[in-house]
Amino acid sequence: MSESKTVVIGVCGGIAVYKALDVISRLKKQNVNVHVIMTKSATEFVTPLSFQSLSQNMVVTDMFAEPKAWEIQHISLAKKADVMAIIPATANIIGKVANGIADDMLSTTIMATHAKVIFAPAMNTNMYNNPIVQSNISKLKEFGYDFICPASGRLACGDVGDGKLQETDIIAEQILSALNSNKDLQGKKVLVTAGPTISKIDPVRYITNGSSGKTGYAIAKEARDRGAKVTLISGPTNLKKPVGIEVINIETNEEMHESVMKHFDDSDIVVKSAAVADYKIKCYSNEKIKKNDGALNLEFIRDNDILKELGSLKKNQILVGFAAESHNLIENAKGKLDKKNLDYIVANNITESGAGFRCDTNKVSIIKRDKTVIPLEVMTKKKVAEKLFDIINEDIK
Ligand SMILES: Cc1cc2nc3c(=O)[nH]c(=O)nc-3n(C[C@H](O)[C@H](O)[C@H](O)COP(=O)(O)O)c2cc1C
Repeated sequence: MSESKTVVIGVCGGIAVYKALDVISRLKKQNVNVHVIMTKSATEFVTPLSFQSLSQNMVVTDMFAEPKAWEIQHISLAKKADVMAIIPATANIIGKVANGIADDMLSTTIMATHAKVIFAPAMNTNMYNNPIVQSNISKLKEFGYDFICPASGRLACGDVGDGKLQETDIIAEQILSALNSNKDLQGKKVLVTAGPTISKIDPVRYITNGSSGKTGYAIAKEARDRGAKVTLISGPTNLKKPVGIEVINIETNEEMHESVMKHFDDSDIVVKSAAVADYKIKCYSNEKIKKNDGALNLEFIRDNDILKELGSLKKNQILVGFAAESHNLIENAKGKLDKKNLDYIVANNITESGAGFRCDTNKVSIIKRDKTVIPLEVMTKKKVAEKLFDIINEDIK
């Protein structure tokens, strides 16, 4: 995050309280300024010192404590917050806010802020499913408060069911997404493809490529954060399903083809960053191929060129392709741009250091339809996604 934003974390007295520390650590790594308010109950579980050390700010626990500077704390934090997140949110705080009770620093700050407030509830399953709690949650949602749905699983009390605090990386991702105030893709439908596809040889063997899907996932998340409705069609990856994005999992070129064609007409921007196999096995063996002493020869035939097909079907969609090349990068990418009727092509030389499939950074050039080449430095895949949409939005204007 380039310019530093402020998140106020409200910590309540639940058994999952220690997990809020991990969320704070994740936010700090993204250069977010964090302030913490702990309820009195929360301090029974963990001392403010841990939160103070991680957030690098004084932790507020008492509404009537002598202020360090002449500012009214609950108002000053309420104003400072770009986003407030309540982690873990107890049944108690949910009930208090839903009913207008402001009797401590946290409930008062929530009441006083204009920032987006996100609750991450965690409690015993019976508590969570209690109609009073559910009714309070519905009421708060109607008032515009956001909730991060708890996970299901074995709870601290031994019960199994809903009410487990959602995973900390998902909570952090949702907070970071809410911090993005640039909503220049609001109302747009963005279709992104990511990861590799596989070409099956027999029931247990297949060939694939080294795509990690990181670029496509970063693009999908950036579009979501800018307000777009995003569909991500993903080949097999080790990446977590991003929140707030419709993810369709596929394996083969054929499945990718079918899914992309289904969504193409309804999309405004289509970013094809998946490394889709160009070839497939000519004769798939229904039975596992037996090992023998000689060589095994496999014949491959061309598979669907999905990008080219989209280029020929394109109406008003903005179509972005990728070119991963090991030589004559710009020349080959410009050729592909023309041949496939693209609006932009993101060209990367997979042999350069800091670029390529598995790493978190990339070094790309973005080439426009008029052949303008915009070379970018080595940067994170998230930054590449930001630059891509900056360029597209500038051109749309
Ligand atoms: C060991 C222990 C664990 C608790 N865990 C939770 C919990 O996970 N969720 C919850 O809503 N309440 C939990 N409670 C109850 C809250 O601490 C209690 O409702 C308290 O008033 C919450 O205050 P606060 O919302 O101001 O933090 C727990 C209580 C104890 C003693």
